[in-house]
Amino acid sequence: MGSRSSVTVRAPAKINLQLSVGAPAEDGYHDLATVFQAVDLYDEVTATPAPGGQFTVEVTGTDAARVPDDGSNLAVRAARALLHAVGPETAPRLGVHLHVRKRIPVAGGMAGGSADAAAALLACDTLWGLDLDRAQLSEVASRIGSDVPFSLLGGTAVGMGRGERLTPALSRTGWHWVLLVADGELSTPAVYGELDRLRAGRVLVEPRVSEPLMQALRSGEASRLGRTLHNDLQPAAVSLRPELDMLLEHVEAVSPAGVLVSGSGPTVAVLAEDEPHAGELAVALADAPGVSRVLRASGPVPGCRVVDPGVRS
Ligand code: C5P
Repeated sequence: MGSRSSVTVRAPAKINLQLSVGAPAEDGYHDLATVFQAVDLYDEVTATPAPGGQFTVEVTGTDAARVPDDGSNLAVRAARALLHAVGPETAPRLGVHLHVRKRIPVAGGMAGGSADAAAALLACDTLWGLDLDRAQLSEVASRIGSDVPFSLLGGTAVGMGRGERLTPALSRTGWHWVLLVADGELSTPAVYGELDRLRAGRVLVEPRVSEPLMQALRSGEASRLGRTLHNDLQPAAVSLRPELDMLLEHVEAVSPAGVLVSGSGPTVAVLAEDEPHAGELAVALADAPGVSRVLRASGPVPGCRVVDPGVRS
């Protein structure tokens, strides 16, 4: 095992182009059929060696104050889970300080926490010279959170099970999005819980990937993809934050092409026809009601990447 001065990894945010939710299982998790797209909005994690058994984190960047900087931080949990996976006997000798630089909206439905966990896994794996392969990292990732394996993989992928059983999907590149970061945050368990409440007593079919959506992804036609976007969690997010409905109506009046709540929300993703259209939409939606920030992103992009491997000593 070689030691390095520090390792920096960047990890992308995701948009669920489809999120179909089945019945809850006994453990409370829901059976999903989802289609992820990784977009070029990144968090960065730098891992620096620390004395054995020490795990610390500092968070800077957008909305950093809303992210925990203790052992509950997902990046720290990921570093600990990695050591646990390679053998607790290694643990006393290794520690890490993690610096998380946030750009992905916090608790916005774009897998920001999962991106930090995935980035920490790859950064610590490289820092400590563990050299786990992607399948092994993905296995550790799935124990931290359902979206963490996708952040490692990136691109466009179908997620089944809890969303962690991934199959890469064919897609044209160059989809352009405007992301409306809505005021406040939504808790993912609360949104799933609200969905269960709204659907109580209904017979639920097994979720399936939408074939029209997969065809639209291959066609490269934004208007076609826009018509097939679907998120079962959207009514639950709107039910918990009724002001989202006003925002969605506002967006649909400006751009009827394709709009949906991203994951468990409250970020709203608007699909543009092309890059110039994304620029126009970002301007037109700048004063949309209840929006704190307007971002642009495009995808698909690769998953976690080491951007600075540091110096080996
Ligand atoms: O897996 P992760 O920790 O990201 O999930 C956050 C929460 O989202 C879970 O605690 C659960 O309430 C909900 N969830 C779910 N079914 C899934 C994925 C997540 O109910 N397939």
